[in-house]
Amino acid sequence: MTTIAIPSGMPQYDDVPRYDVATVRADFPILDREVNGHRLVYLDSANTSHKPRQVLGVLAEHYARHNANVSRSVHTLGTEATEAYEGARAKVAAFINAPSVDEVVFTKNSTEAINIVAYAFSNASLRPDGDPRFRLGPGDEVVISEMEHHSNIVPWQLLCERTGATLRWFPVTDSGRLDESGLDDLVTERTKIVSLVHMSNILGTVNATARITERVREVGALLLLDCSQSVPHMPMDVVDYDADFIVFTGHKMCGPTGIGVLWGRAELLAAMPPVFGGGSMIETVAMGGSTFAAPPARFEAGTPPIAEAVALGAAVDYLSGIGMRAIQWHEKELTAYALDALATVPGLRIFGPTVPVGRGGTISFALGDVHPHDVGQVLDSLGVQVRVGHHCARPVCTRFGVPATTRASFYLYTTTEEIDALVAGLEQVRKVFG
Ligand code: ALA
Repeated sequence: MTTIAIPSGMPQYDDVPRYDVATVRADFPILDREVNGHRLVYLDSANTSHKPRQVLGVLAEHYARHNANVSRSVHTLGTEATEAYEGARAKVAAFINAPSVDEVVFTKNSTEAINIVAYAFSNASLRPDGDPRFRLGPGDEVVISEMEHHSNIVPWQLLCERTGATLRWFPVTDSGRLDESGLDDLVTERTKIVSLVHMSNILGTVNATARITERVREVGALLLLDCSQSVPHMPMDVVDYDADFIVFTGHKMCGPTGIGVLWGRAELLAAMPPVFGGGSMIETVAMGGSTFAAPPARFEAGTPPIAEAVALGAAVDYLSGIGMRAIQWHEKELTAYALDALATVPGLRIFGPTVPVGRGGTISFALGDVHPHDVGQVLDSLGVQVRVGHHCARPVCTRFGVPATTRASFYLYTTTEEIDALVAGLEQVRKVFG
C-alpha cells in the first residue's frame, strides 16, 4: 500500500480513511504519459481533472450500446438512454445528499448554472407575477466577494445592468481569507442574493459559510455557493450547508467536459421562470403561448449532454468508491507537505493561506519577479504542468498587486513525489532567471 508520508505537524488520527494512491493512479491512463521527455507531473487539476478508465469506459459504452435521445422515445434504446440519464441524476443527488432527485438540474458547467439563476432573477423581474424573492430592481443588492472566479462575477454584473440593482462584495484579507468584518453592513434587507465561492480557485481558501448563511436568513435573502472547486475534493451535504443553490462542474471531478450541475431547493426551482426555451422544457405549446414543465426539465431545454451526464454518474460512483473523506484527507496532507516544501524555495511568495487549515490543495505563488509565464514554460519543459495567468479570477490578482500567478493544484492521484518535482523545477527556474 502506497501512502504519503505525513508531514510534521499534521495530526495523526487512527480513523482517517485512506486509499492506495498507486492503485488509484493506475486507473488514469494519461498519468503514464511523458511530456517533453519527462514523466508527466500534472498539477493543474483545479483547471480540469483527469478521467479514470471507469469513466472513460462508461462514456464509450453509452455511445456504443445505448445511444438514443432521452425523454422522448418509447423504443428500447430511448428507454435505456433515459434510464441511464435519470440514473445519473439520482447518483448526483445522493452524492450531495439532495432531498429530492428533482432538485438536480443538469447544465453545461458551473458558469451556465450560475447564469440560469441570474437570468431567472431578471426574467422574474419582467413578469408582474414573478416571485418577489426573484424580483430585482434599483435599490436591491447582489453580494459576491473579491475572491470569485469570473463566472461568479460577470453574470451578476450583467444582472445588475439589466435590472438597475447594485453589486457589492466582501473584500479579501492580506492572508487570503474572506473579510467578514463588515458582514452586517454588507448583507442587509436590501440584499436579494449572496453568491459566494466555497473554495477559491486561485487562493485555495475554503470559506466557512455558517455566519454568512445565518445573516442571509436573517435578512431574507438567498444564498448560492459556487462549489466548483469544493465538491470534487470534499464531502458535500446540501442539507448541512443550508444554501439555496449550489453549482459545480463535472470535468473537475473525474467526469467529462460539457456537464455541470445546478442544485436548488425544490420550492425555489419551482418558483423560478425558465431561462432557455425549447423542447423538453414545456408542458404545452400553442402559437399564442406556452406553459412550462416542472423542474428539473424546465431548465434543461433541448437535447441535454446525455452521455456526459451518464459519465458524470460514473465519476460519482468512482469518487464515492474511494470515499470523499479519504480524498479530502489525502489532499490535506499533500497541501501541508507542499506548503512546507514551497517555503524552502528562496523568494517564493504564496498568495492565500499559508497553513493547511481552511484551505484546499490549490496553491498560487510568485517566484521573485520572474514572470509566471516564464515559470510555467520552464516547468513545462520538465514535464510539470501548472497553470499560470490570472486564473479567470483577475480581481484577486489586482487585490494582491500582481498581473498573474503560478498555480499548482492537486487531486486524489497527486503524490508528494510530484510536489518534489515542482520544487526541483522551481530551483531550475531560479537558475535560469537568476
Ligand atoms: N478552470 C478554471 C481554473 O483553472 C476555473 O481555475
